[in-house]
Amino acid sequence: MYDFKPDAAQGTAELYRELLGAADALTADEPDAIANMANVAALLWEFLPDLNWAGFYRVGPVKGGAKSGAKAGGADELVLGPFMGRPACIRIPLGSGVCGAAAQNGATQLVADVHAFPGHIACDAASRSELVVPVLRDGQVITVIDLDSPRPARFSQADAEGIEALAALLAARI
Ligand code: SME
Repeated sequence: MYDFKPDAAQGTAELYRELLGAADALTADEPDAIANMANVAALLWEFLPDLNWAGFYRVGPVKGGAKSGAKAGGADELVLGPFMGRPACIRIPLGSGVCGAAAQNGATQLVADVHAFPGHIACDAASRSELVVPVLRDGQVITVIDLDSPRPARFSQADAEGIEALAALLAARI
């Protein structure tokens, strides 16, 4: 049995230190990317308060691209990966919404008010703020980690840095 739980009443830095330790322990010896993303989505949900969605979008070929004979190196988009929360949009074009911006720019997107973000994709009308962090391997974005909250301005710079550290840990494991 795994019993990873955050200690009550601690600061953000300690919370992320514990979250990263748990993520490291769960993924270190497991080569299956889906299993690792699924467990990390569960950890994010368990450790971080005030979320209504936590999970992964993976960079992959556009739908139908392989079947229609697209060459390797053809167009990519984001495809829904393991997550916790309500069912969500399955495919997101690179450059669209908060996730698409993170994937296209390779840069963290810290959005205090999703209604003010041009092109925000409302998978859940309850979402008010969002943090999306790209996972890079060999300089390429392979996945993004997406956190949504029903609370405006839920995410701080400390959250961004904590999830960036998680992204670095996971880069070779997902
Ligand atoms: N809001 C995201 C879409 C993904 S869902 O929040 C799970 C966006 O604008 O990219």
